[in-house]
Amino acid sequence: MNKVLIIDDEQSLLTTLEMLFTSKGYSVQTAGGGKQGLEILTSDNLPDLLISDIKMPDLDGIEVLREVKKIDPYLPVVLITAHADKQEAIAACNEGAYYFLEKPFGNKELLKICSEALENGRAGRRYSERRRELSSAQLPEFLIGEAPEFKKVLQVAGKAAKTDSTILIQGESGTGKELVARYIYRESARRDRPFVPVNCGALTETLLESELFGHVKGSFTGAISSKDGLFKVASGGTIFLDEVGETSLSFQVKLLRVLQEKTITPVGSTEPVTVDVQVIAATNRDLEAEVEAERFRRDLFYRLNVIPIKLPPLRERVEDIPLLIDSILERKGETATHKTRFTETALKKLESYRWPGNIRELENIIEHLAVISAKDIINEEDLPEKVCRPQPESFVSDKPKDTPTLEAVERAYIHWVMEQVNGSKKEASKILGIDPSTLYRKLSQ
Ligand SMILES: Nc1ncnc2c1ncn2[C@@H]1O[C@H](COP(=O)(O)OP(=O)(O)OP(=O)(O)O)[C@@H](O)[C@H]1O
Ligand SMILES: [Mg+2]
Repeated sequence: MNKVLIIDDEQSLLTTLEMLFTSKGYSVQTAGGGKQGLEILTSDNLPDLLISDIKMPDLDGIEVLREVKKIDPYLPVVLITAHADKQEAIAACNEGAYYFLEKPFGNKELLKICSEALENGRAGRRYSERRRELSSAQLPEFLIGEAPEFKKVLQVAGKAAKTDSTILIQGESGTGKELVARYIYRESARRDRPFVPVNCGALTETLLESELFGHVKGSFTGAISSKDGLFKVASGGTIFLDEVGETSLSFQVKLLRVLQEKTITPVGSTEPVTVDVQVIAATNRDLEAEVEAERFRRDLFYRLNVIPIKLPPLRERVEDIPLLIDSILERKGETATHKTRFTETALKKLESYRWPGNIRELENIIEHLAVISAKDIINEEDLPEKVCRPQPESFVSDKPKDTPTLEAVERAYIHWVMEQVNGSKKEASKILGIDPSTLYRKLSQ
């Protein structure tokens, strides 16, 4: 439920708005003046949205706005006033108000603005959290890996860094796409200019557009001051368009134009601005399949895929697991005198696990083992259950790289279970969740 705080010194309007928002399912708090409003606000019970009158005897709406932005810069604020004054409206929006609404206004209009303001606040918050996460993330300085598949990646990345071409990095989640993007940037001549990561999946289309291309004053609700786009911020450097596969088809058209013309046009402007940035895009979707499914534009795909880099999943480079473990332990501050070691059988288990979350998942598991359980030697029994659970591939041990039929997997699994229970059909049928007679039939086939 959305919480809204309404501040107005006019009691009748306060009552009307309280009824309106309550009837729309909001949880409503009211205050008869700026001072009282701030008293409610400083408590750790922040609303999701603030609506405030401007002209109030004790503390006016602009001052309330200023205080609120100090507490939470993403809290959306809608200001209302009876004495509309254009200068004041501009000032208010420069201070971070989402909208400036003139009395009298219709309920519909107010509700629409409020729901937009809430979405805007949420998207902004998601975005800033993600950016904070990224900047504070302890990324390793070097890319670890000796596996041939990974060495190939490094080679291509090294060459890509010496060009200005657009690069598309594809790979499952946690395979190191961002790390590789940063590596390319560090190896490039652009390393002294900015590296600007943008998570395209975290923003609504409108916000993404204005974040990337900027906007001019008055171009849309809430855009009362102009703002530079991230393409301009990245000038001379590299922009990292993460999760590019999550963007809408209509946004893709705009991105394509930027790549073709090497100019951006701020939202609300007609003047294109030339930009000089290297674009590195990344996605964990299979973009070719997305193109076939008509969820991603073919023309944009070709524009991005000038230098393709495909990161192998961890299960295809298991020989790197020991190296990666060492580097993770080192980053967690382990020294030569205290070093967690893994037994052979534990390593074997790690190597046969599927790793859907790839290196990030490995990091989580290792951190947990080394820090939380604080053991010197990690045995098979110390590993999380999901790692030790039988992996489908291992049932078909003779042809692990093949994609076996369902029947083959079933047969292999049944035999594996039979082995675990020393041939007891009764036990095995319990584990398999089938009738002993069904098991008997399957075994005789
Ligand atoms: N080659 C590598 N050497 C060492 N650590 C790595 C390597 N590749 C990835 N990592 C680690 O794995 C984690 C995930 O990497 P990264 O964030 O770059 O992956 P991603 O592919 O962008 O993931 P997502 O799709 O979830 O955004 C990071 O913490 C990073 O330190
Ligand atoms: Mg990433």
